[in-house]
Amino acid sequence: MDDRNGWGRERPAPTGLPRNPPTSFVEQANVTNERIHEEFDEPASWERAADLLAWDEPYDTVLEDEEAPFYRWFTGGTLNASFNCLDRHIEAGRKTHTAIRWEGKRGERETYTYQDLFVEVNELAAALRDLGVGEDDVVTIYLPMIPELPIAMLACARIGAPHSVVFAGLSAEALATRMDAAESEYLLTCDGYYRRGDAFNQKSKVDNACIALDHDVQTIVVDRLGDDLPHVLGDGERDYHDLREEFSGETVDPVARDAEDMLFLMYTSGTTGEPKGVVHSTGGYLAHVAWTSHAVLDVKPEDTYWCAADIGWITGHSYIVYGPLALGTTTVMYEGTPDYPDRARLWEIVDRNAVDVFYTAPTAIRAFMKWGAEYPAKHDLSSLRLLGSVGEPISPRPWDWYHERIGGGECPIVDTWWQTETGAITVSTLPGIDEMKPGSAGPPLPGIDARVVDDSGTEVAPGEAGYLVLARPWPGMARTLYDGDDRFLEEYWTQFSDPETDRWWYFSGDAARIDEDGYITVLGRIDDVINVSGRRLSTMEIESAIAGVDGVAEAAVVGRSSDANGTDVYAYVSTEGHSENGDAIREAIVESVESTIGPIARPAEVIFTPELPKTRSGKIMRRLLAAVANDEELGDTSALRNPEIVGEIQAEIGDEGEANERN
Ligand code: PRX
Repeated sequence: MDDRNGWGRERPAPTGLPRNPPTSFVEQANVTNERIHEEFDEPASWERAADLLAWDEPYDTVLEDEEAPFYRWFTGGTLNASFNCLDRHIEAGRKTHTAIRWEGKRGERETYTYQDLFVEVNELAAALRDLGVGEDDVVTIYLPMIPELPIAMLACARIGAPHSVVFAGLSAEALATRMDAAESEYLLTCDGYYRRGDAFNQKSKVDNACIALDHDVQTIVVDRLGDDLPHVLGDGERDYHDLREEFSGETVDPVARDAEDMLFLMYTSGTTGEPKGVVHSTGGYLAHVAWTSHAVLDVKPEDTYWCAADIGWITGHSYIVYGPLALGTTTVMYEGTPDYPDRARLWEIVDRNAVDVFYTAPTAIRAFMKWGAEYPAKHDLSSLRLLGSVGEPISPRPWDWYHERIGGGECPIVDTWWQTETGAITVSTLPGIDEMKPGSAGPPLPGIDARVVDDSGTEVAPGEAGYLVLARPWPGMARTLYDGDDRFLEEYWTQFSDPETDRWWYFSGDAARIDEDGYITVLGRIDDVINVSGRRLSTMEIESAIAGVDGVAEAAVVGRSSDANGTDVYAYVSTEGHSENGDAIREAIVESVESTIGPIARPAEVIFTPELPKTRSGKIMRRLLAAVANDEELGDTSALRNPEIVGEIQAEIGDEGEANERN
């Protein structure tokens, strides 16, 4: 192996320089064929992903593109996702292998073998059927990171009922909107959960959501808190553990699903206030997540693998549940936060479980860096073989820190770019083959055609910024939006596609740069979506929550770069009659955002201004507000009707900044 980049402990490369994967990693990597990029030149190449699964009926065609962009993958094939994640490993004699290692918030630990998981999934599947859940009925799951969450997902998959998991931290209103949009009549939730040691009531949010719904809901409630938060079950509500007892020992045959049948629905923020229900298929999705878990995350059945995300978002669906369980590995599930009971918590878990592969987000890595290297240094992290990053760009400094302090300079890092809509990783280095360039995600994966183009769809020169598009279909791609095919076309397939010439290029909503060697550096969202701590939020959704507050005339929300969170929410607000009661309105704004969306969308700053900067046609110039928030050059302001306001806002932010420093 060429060591020109100074790989190895003796000669650590200075920040930002490319690195080669270490020989020790390459020797054992799942994928080492250097020609794999060229070999993946046609849709049929994706058969190697489908080969990682067990099919009830083999597929006839790898890709059908007659109805593009409504592509169909592995058509004619049938399979069941729960069978692929459970039964087949048991049939292969791996009953006693650990499937899930759960680490609770209060230091509790639970281990589920593949057999344990099989038993509980089957019992719940039998209970769901008995409650009347049929194939294609959407079941909403509103649970924190407890084992019942993946169990519920797999039970739904077993009976062919698509699940819609709603992140447990979202509000009652957000839950109601999602259940309403999906016409979901079944809900799995819990009484509450522990937040920093306190009992937090989840059930009261559920009660409020159900009141807001027009249809009846049948609810299953997991008793997580016991005597710490007694609860009473109402009409249409059943206790999870009672149901398990009632259906104890029952098994349910996995329903053979068409490869194109919906496995799940996942709501994510779009450019309008309405969340988008992204629809994922059974065959293509599962094949893509299994393949990328194998090829990018290098997961092996005997590994202990830990993706420290929340299953309430796509990363957890693909890389805590479906990918690792499809490959029969041990997946770690952590309920708590990285700093409770202390800042060494994650490293203690890595040490005690001898974790082989660790996958997290840059926002967490920046926090670890800030806390200092003494926390990871307290533990033996030598079991780690590979590190992953997802959710935001990772800049070279945190990349280096992660590499040295967590990986001991010995683990390759995969910086994986993908989205809720792509279903699985689409841009990343292959850790056993490709050189790593800190700050740059890497080349498109084999079979993925990612390009960076200008407004007219022409590829930009290396080094220039443009729009990131995917110019060829891939198996894990979203099939449509639950809200309808029209919105799917409008959101992703109008900007760079041309139906006349049958050119279908998927628009990601991200800006990026591409280097001479084809490496892609993702620059961030260009639409009205902001990425706070790796979570996707719609500025319009936040704005409408603010606009509902008494006394608010108008609001504009932008992102401001932040060391801690990647981006913070900045809200510019004008009040009716320029109300003097700033503090009370500010409080009401924060409260409204938290109750309509959730605490993750809480504004870091609320800046009052007599007016918002607007063009002559009355459009708010958010670009300017973002420039002001980020202390950047304002650029062209000639389109403004009220240019003087920008100076006033700058002065206001200056005053606030000074006041904050004084505090
Ligand atoms: O802006 C990109 C950013 O996260 C967005 C997708 O968010 P979501 O659908 O919530 O899925 C997050 C986890 C897959 C993208 O449009 N993003 C994701 N991964 C990266 C990234 N930005 C830079 N580098 C990445 N590795």
